[in-house]
Amino acid sequence: MTAKQRIAILISGRGSNMMSLAEAAGTSDFPAEVAAVIANRPDAAGIAWAAARGIPTRVVDHKAYPNRAAFEAELHSAIAGTGATLVCLAGFMRVLTSGFVAKWQGRMINIHPSLLPSFKGLHTHEQALEAGVRIAGCTVHFVVPEMDAGPIIAQAAVPVEYGDTPDTLAQRILSAEHQLYPQALRLVASGAVRMESWRAVPRLPAPERGEINHVQAVFSPPLPRLR
Ligand code: GRF
Repeated sequence: MTAKQRIAILISGRGSNMMSLAEAAGTSDFPAEVAAVIANRPDAAGIAWAAARGIPTRVVDHKAYPNRAAFEAELHSAIAGTGATLVCLAGFMRVLTSGFVAKWQGRMINIHPSLLPSFKGLHTHEQALEAGVRIAGCTVHFVVPEMDAGPIIAQAAVPVEYGDTPDTLAQRILSAEHQLYPQALRLVASGAVRMESWRAVPRLPAPERGEINHVQAVFSPPLPRLR
């Protein structure tokens, strides 16, 4: 087996996506291992979870630096110091400058709780409910300087239910995120998908990168049951 990629996971809070990545990376056939979990907030709950499992952790508190450049310089050196080959943003709530993004281009991925390119930015579930979409979802993409705009690696579609609130929709999408992010990381870490010329390009034939094998389409509202 080729050497595993080493991932640095960047969080700002709860860290449930980080946990799903760390759990997947704990399995022997996963092509990546967790080098470190790094938070920009000292009170990020995910840090305690990671530390309790023996994962190296680090806080680079953005408030401790005079400006964005100084914060990003320290963040970059913290990541590089772990020997990370890939960076996973998992609920990391700081905007990153193009200079920082360039250092990790094609090697930094993010999860966003909408079907991009719809509903970029914050309050995605409110945006989806406001727009009245019947299908929402989540996206894992390569990070580029423009926010929530990089090449799409994988998406999951999640039905919106009548009566959903932002919280109930967020909960349903979050469950899908926890399945989607490890799968997308597997594709990137194994080399099955790469970023080339600002596209996410499959490098392996369909069997190795997975087939669309669960359902052909998601219907919302659902189709009537066939008897
Ligand atoms: C997730 O919904 C993620 O898609 C978004 O922020 C949220 C972070 O949640 N970027 P958690 O910290 O992973 O639990």
